[in-house]
Amino acid sequence: MNVQWTPTLAVGVEIIDNQHKELFRRVEGLMEAMKRARGRMEIGSLVAYLGTYVVEHFQQEEKYMQEFAYPDYAGHKQEHEKLVEEYGGMKNTLMTVGLNAIEVVKIQRKLVDWLEHHIGESDKALGKYLAGKKIE
Ligand SMILES: [Fe+2]
Repeated sequence: MNVQWTPTLAVGVEIIDNQHKELFRRVEGLMEAMKRARGRMEIGSLVAYLGTYVVEHFQQEEKYMQEFAYPDYAGHKQEHEKLVEEYGGMKNTLMTVGLNAIEVVKIQRKLVDWLEHHIGESDKALGKYLAGKKIE
């Protein structure tokens, strides 16, 4: 499964794009570990590593949305919350039942879907709104 950041996913705000690239790297690391059937401890720590970054990244985007009075702040934030909740669900499954082939495929699909759809649609819309604004 290909999880490479591509310029078609660029949002146009450097900080956000760099964070998205980092997200892809962390997702890739997790998927690689799942593919190689690494132990629960190692995968667990990669899940935590990615999860922490997801939360930080969402906070950054939400900060921009508030700062620049983004009209769809509520909707976008809700998507973030849903993603965090779903991620928590994945983490629980991992910790309680462990990973089997079906779970791995489900998690991969979910992550790729997030990356492509949330970034490709919602974050791009945000980027368009932020274009030309003075971002520090
Ligand atoms: Fe977002």
